[in-house]
Amino acid sequence: MIDGRKSLFSGMQATGNLTLGNYLGALKNFVTLQDEYETFFCVVDEHSITVRQDPAELRKRARNLLTLYIAAGLDPEKNCIYYQSHCSAHAELAWILNCYTYMGELSRMTQFKDKSAKHADNINAGLFTYPVLMAADILLFQTDVVPVGIDQMQHLELTRDIAIRFNNIYGDVFTVPEAYIGKAGAKIMSLQDPLHKMSKSDENENASIYLMDPPDAIMRKCKRAVTDSDTEVRYGEDKPGVSNLIDIYRSCLSKSVEEVEKEFEGKGYGVFKEAVGEAVVSVLKPLQDEFARLSKEKDYIDKYIKQNAEKASYYANKTLRKVQKKVGFPERIR
Ligand code: TYM
Repeated sequence: MIDGRKSLFSGMQATGNLTLGNYLGALKNFVTLQDEYETFFCVVDEHSITVRQDPAELRKRARNLLTLYIAAGLDPEKNCIYYQSHCSAHAELAWILNCYTYMGELSRMTQFKDKSAKHADNINAGLFTYPVLMAADILLFQTDVVPVGIDQMQHLELTRDIAIRFNNIYGDVFTVPEAYIGKAGAKIMSLQDPLHKMSKSDENENASIYLMDPPDAIMRKCKRAVTDSDTEVRYGEDKPGVSNLIDIYRSCLSKSVEEVEKEFEGKGYGVFKEAVGEAVVSVLKPLQDEFARLSKEKDYIDKYIKQNAEKASYYANKTLRKVQKKVGFPERIR
């Protein structure tokens, strides 16, 4: 709770090219939930440097992501859209929470295992403690709800464990957050290997639809999506490729699985894939156009970067000061 309203926090990394998975699993839900909560949407640039980044590129991508939040329909006046690095409380709380998190817990995180396998030459301490920074992000805002895709659930569980542990020692300091997982689109799979999630780091270009892909690329990728030798448009564990396309389609157009199955009864994969492509274009094209327009509005975006960094810091510091006092740091002299 913040100022008597339920609060919502979520963040996205600005690394790589954002995919349709990021949109359907997270950003789309941010937009739907924005009016119900006091919201904080963060560009988590501090998380990004756990993997080596080109500085100029990171700065550019961070700005693009912040612009994209607004282009997707988040009102920057009502929603606190900001950069993690502009609010120093994140790093400060992360340090404290590091001292309340166990090595064993962090060793079990699948994202750490995956990323350290992928970046074997740079298994840095930040990569290991990444989930603690994520816990700090969330707990700073007394967050009630965190909209994320399924792949972030393990980190969210850890955040809850840390909050409960801290509260057990010091009293009710943190709100224990709940995940918000959308009904559809919470785990969009690769178009080329539907047993693995769609990921911005996939080397196969055809595996992911990128948010900035032009319509012809989107149509091509959908048509080439791996399905099976059957022809029936049906949802089921034995049909991962088709089920993924059904998820994409219904998530773009807010339909139920049954409606989609009925719509394509007896029509075959060719017609279905074409319709999936069109549905994705109908969602991404307006987003791209608005992004292009907003990218030219430098002063408008800058105003909110400044305003919202101050707003985020105001609320975050309230929690941070409370925590600092609880753990025994000396009081500030005013
Ligand atoms: P990131 O940047 O990898 O992804 C951003 C959001 O997109 C979701 N997502 C997906 N959803 C469905 N299908 C997919 N294929 C797919 N791929 C990604 C993710 O679940 C996420 O919601 N650690 C986080 C960023 C973060 C954060 C936070 C999130 C940092 N602090 C605090 C929430 C709260 C991450 O790397 O997400």
